[in-house]
Order: sequence, then structure tokens, then C-alpha cells
Amino acid sequence: MKADEKLNVGIVGAAGRGASFRSAIEASGRARVHAVCDVKKDDLQAAMERLGASEKYLDFGEMLEKSDIDAVVIGTPMQFHAPQAITALRRGLHALSEVTAGVSIEECRELVRAAKASPAVYMMAENYTYMRPNVLVKALVREGLFGEVYYGEGEYIHELKGLNEITKWRRKWQTGVNGGTYPTHSLGPIYQWFDGQRVTHVCCAGSGHHYKDPRGDCYENEDSIVMLCRMAKGGLVKIRVDMLSDRPHAMTNYQVQGTMGGYESARAHGEKNRVWLRKLHGDPNAWHDLEELAADHMPDIWRNPTETALKAGHGGGDYFEVMDWLNAIYGDAPCPIGIHEAMDMTLPGLVSQQSIMQNCAWLEVPDSRAW
Ligand SMILES: NC(=O)c1ccc[n+]([C@@H]2O[C@H](COP(=O)([O-])OP(=O)(O)OC[C@H]3O[C@@H](n4cnc5c(N)ncnc54)[C@H](O)[C@@H]3O)[C@@H](O)[C@H]2O)c1
Repeated sequence: MKADEKLNVGIVGAAGRGASFRSAIEASGRARVHAVCDVKKDDLQAAMERLGASEKYLDFGEMLEKSDIDAVVIGTPMQFHAPQAITALRRGLHALSEVTAGVSIEECRELVRAAKASPAVYMMAENYTYMRPNVLVKALVREGLFGEVYYGEGEYIHELKGLNEITKWRRKWQTGVNGGTYPTHSLGPIYQWFDGQRVTHVCCAGSGHHYKDPRGDCYENEDSIVMLCRMAKGGLVKIRVDMLSDRPHAMTNYQVQGTMGGYESARAHGEKNRVWLRKLHGDPNAWHDLEELAADHMPDIWRNPTETALKAGHGGGDYFEVMDWLNAIYGDAPCPIGIHEAMDMTLPGLVSQQSIMQNCAWLEVPDSRAW
């Protein structure tokens, strides 16, 4: 791509989640929303106008065939992510896919093949890795301030029994399968704090079934599931996913421990994210506010996000995520959550679904680099 050209982007799932990418795409100055696609006929015109697009489609295949687009943003329900990304990549279109990358190991394998064979850039939009505290912890880890990182915890606790009945795909793909169906928001940042060490083995157990859907059926997903992840260099990560228990939400609980420091995210409203780092804080007798370290350790672009970045949402996170994808497309930098990183975040959950059926057996997680 030439630096002065703007990419034409098509957004699928434009009447739902897909719409949230508009402001970041526009703020980038490197792309525009050209087409929208959604199966909701009644909402399509409004989606096109809201997203400032010139074309609208009810069918994804038709958009790819007829529209003059260079790239797609996939904001459809989970079961469509891999098939739609595969179709786009096979046509040489860049793809930014919502999480998770796929709902089965088989389709993930096909996605990896398509990404490897395509000249286009695939990225998974794991936006929790772009949250301000998570970016700062990553910077501290990369400076070596945690020493050797060997333990992590992440929790995604988001009661969505009501949402299951509105966005019905959730009842099948998130709460209708047992094991880790939606773990990337928790695992993604921790995976980055382990500096790209992937999960090699997983075991998974659940807390049982204490809730029923409005039809009186038990959810196939147990209320709380815990995935234990063995990392490539021996470290341990615990991921809890709970989409059913009645309680306040807590989608961003994290902990990380290294030989020279520890971090615990705030667990309740009003609490601070707390960190202790031997090099900066001395003896481990007190926690310190993570934010105090931002001035000296936050990456530059995050320290002073531009107005345009802030406008795109999540304190600039949405903008930086889209910029990373576009920078990779323009060849300015490698894609930080390319196909293999997307697999490193997605495959442990899929393998955990096998583990929970095998009485919590430790199972190997495939390395997509070997596919
Ligand atoms: N990263 C995040 O923070 C975050 C937040 C919310 C949702 N999500 C993810 O975004 C995705 C969508 O979630 P949602 O809550 O918007 O769901 P949703 O059910 O509202 O679906 C999104 C849109 O996709 C459309 N759609 C469904 N099937 C389609 C198809 N085959 N072709 C074209 N359009 C189609 C729907 O009509 C809807 O407008 C899910 O994968 C979800 O996990 C991510």
C-alpha cells in the first residue's frame, strides 16, 4: 500500500459489535468504512448511515464479490469468525477478527492455512490487551522489572443469562459448550506478560450446574470453569471464566508474579491496581499504585494519546488496536496479534473443552507454527 492511500474497509456484523470499530478506523486516517454487511435487513440502512459507509450488503460473500474493499472487520457472532476470515484471506483481503479466532480446532487449522497462504494480514482484535493498565504491566515486564514471570491469573466474570436470550448464539457457543469458551480476554494480556511464551498444556474443571435457562434446561457450560495452563518455560496460569453466576461483573481481574515483583488488578470499584517491584519499591512490605509508574514507564503513544486516539474509545485502546492492524498492512511493523498469537490465545480454550470432558486431564495444546 502507498502511504497516502486509504484502505476501503467492509464491516460485517455492522448492526452489532462491528459498529464499534468505526471511530478507530476513521481516526487512523489510513482507512475508511466503505461497506457494511449484516443479516438484519431492517437495521442495515441505519447501520450504513451510522458508520458513514457507501454500500450495504445482507450477504458477506456478496460484499466480498461486489464491493471494492481491501479489508474486512469481522464483528459477527463467534461461530462466523473463522469461516468469514478464511473467505476474506483467500480473496487476499486483510481481516481483523473479533475474539475468539474460532470455535473448533479443525476450523482454526483451516484458518491458519488460509492466513499462511494469503498475502493479506490477519489480526485478532483482543482488545483487553490494549487496556491501559495491561499495556503498562506489559511495559514493566519488558523492562525486566518483574524478573522472570512464572505465575498469572485472569478472570472473566460476566453474568449473561439475559443476553443469551437476546443474542441467541451465546446460548450455543458460550454457555452451551463446557470448558473455556471465552477465555481470550483473560489469557491474552497474561500471555503477553509471559513475553510470548505459549500455553503448552491445559487442564480444566468446573464448579457444577446451579442455573437453568428460561426453558428449564441446564447450561452445558458449568457456572465457573477454571483452566490451568502450563506455559512453555514451566510457568503456571489460572484462568476462570464464569458467564452464569449471579453477582456483579468482574471482567478484568488479573494477577502476575515474577521473581522480582507482583501485580494485582483492582477487584472492586474504588480499589487501585497495585504493584510491587523490588527494584523500584525495595522490601516487599507494601503495594503501590500501578498508575504512579505510568509517567516513567508507559509507552510514549499511551502517555499522551492524541485527541483522535481518545475519541476512538477505551482511552485510546480501540485506536491503537486498529492502528496496529493497519501498520502491519502498510508494512510498518509486524502484527502483534497475528495468526499464531491469535491461536496461542484461542487454542487453550478449545483444548480445555476436551480436558473437562476427560475428568480434568492435562492435554497438549497444539502449536499452530507446526501446522
Ligand atoms: N472484544 C469485546 O470486548 C467484545 C464485546 C462484545 C462482543 N464481542 C464479540 O463480538 C461478536 C459479536 O457480538 P455481539 O454482541 O455484537 O453479537 P450480535 O448477536 O449482536 O451480533 C453482531 C451482529 O452480527 C450480525 N450477524 C449475525 N450473523 C451474521 C452473518 N452471518 N453475516 C452478517 N452479519 C451477521 C447480527 O445481525 C448482529 O447485528 C462476538 O464474537 C462477541 O464475542 C467482543
